[in-house]
Amino acid sequence: MPFKTIKLNDGRQIPEIGFGTWKIPQDVTSQQVQQGIEVGFDHVDTAQVYRNEVEAGQGIRDTGLKREQLWITTKWSGVDDKPVRQSCLESLEKLGVDYVDLYLIHSPRLCKGDIAGTWAQFELLKKEGLVKSIGVSNFTVDDLKTLLKTAKIKPVVNQILLHPYVIKQQTPLLEFMQDHDIAPEGYSSLIPLTSRTGGPVDKPVADIGKRLKVEPEQVLLAWSRAKGAIIITTSSRKDRLERYLAVGDIHLTDEDVDAIDRAGKKGEKDKAMREMAMSGARYLVLAGLGLWAVGKLVL
Ligand SMILES: NC(=O)c1ccc[n+]([C@@H]2O[C@H](COP(=O)([O-])OP(=O)(O)OC[C@H]3O[C@@H](n4cnc5c(N)ncnc54)[C@H](OP(=O)(O)O)[C@@H]3O)[C@@H](O)[C@H]2O)c1
Repeated sequence: MPFKTIKLNDGRQIPEIGFGTWKIPQDVTSQQVQQGIEVGFDHVDTAQVYRNEVEAGQGIRDTGLKREQLWITTKWSGVDDKPVRQSCLESLEKLGVDYVDLYLIHSPRLCKGDIAGTWAQFELLKKEGLVKSIGVSNFTVDDLKTLLKTAKIKPVVNQILLHPYVIKQQTPLLEFMQDHDIAPEGYSSLIPLTSRTGGPVDKPVADIGKRLKVEPEQVLLAWSRAKGAIIITTSSRKDRLERYLAVGDIHLTDEDVDAIDRAGKKGEKDKAMREMAMSGARYLVLAGLGLWAVGKLVL
């Protein structure tokens, strides 16, 4: 079954996979966004701080699709300390649209200790019709609890880092979000293939890929989907984008998901041990230097 939509807590339907524009250079953003949409993505995820909203908007227009045929998310990233409403209006202008489907607080730290006040401004944007749905990103359980204390409108999503090497730390957050009907959007799920290669996750991913006759990136995105997440990913390559969309037809068994989770937790533990050993070594070097300096002073 190809990817469909997920019903959010405000009743709106979000496409289950989105094409992200983070780190795409401005000079190729419109071409890559257009390619993503022409391959079949109907959900574009961008942000004020990616500084390519103008080009993303151009890529969207180049497809010739009607505005309502696409889901567009952007984020308030606190660029240049601009207030929420001004940032939102500027993003709309840059994208060349009169509303976005989803507007996110990019990170709780942007609220500078005032999550309630910032969220109230997001609620006003929704009332004004500038944004259809509102949500957050990179919020912890505590951040969400703070927000929910005063929120009149619940965030529809929390866009979070979601890959096997962080599954242990993210599981309580995923559970909290499920209990409060806040949908997870998962980004950087391909980290085991991009920046943390050679770790314990490689083997189960390769084994599952071999069994299902699919590529490792497809196994990782299917894993993210199995965690209940809306997938936010990207690629400059048409063949990869086609493979991402084919993940709609890939279903992992509970055993597959468990094997990837176990390997991810092992990788997380190994990394923590390595970091502890490194900081222990640093401490010993500093202590040694300190003793040497004291020795010099005494002599
Ligand atoms: N809210 C936040 O704070 C936040 C943070 C980060 C990201 N995001 C969103 O999430 C989107 C995706 O983030 P991401 O780029 O970190 O996601 P990702 O899905 O983990 O990685 C995408 C990258 O994986 C590469 N890739 C795919 N298959 C590969 C393979 N088999 N081997 C090696 N590399 C492979 C692609 O490179 P090619 O181009 O070469 O195919 C692409 O650049 C962003 O664009 C952004 O919209 C949000």
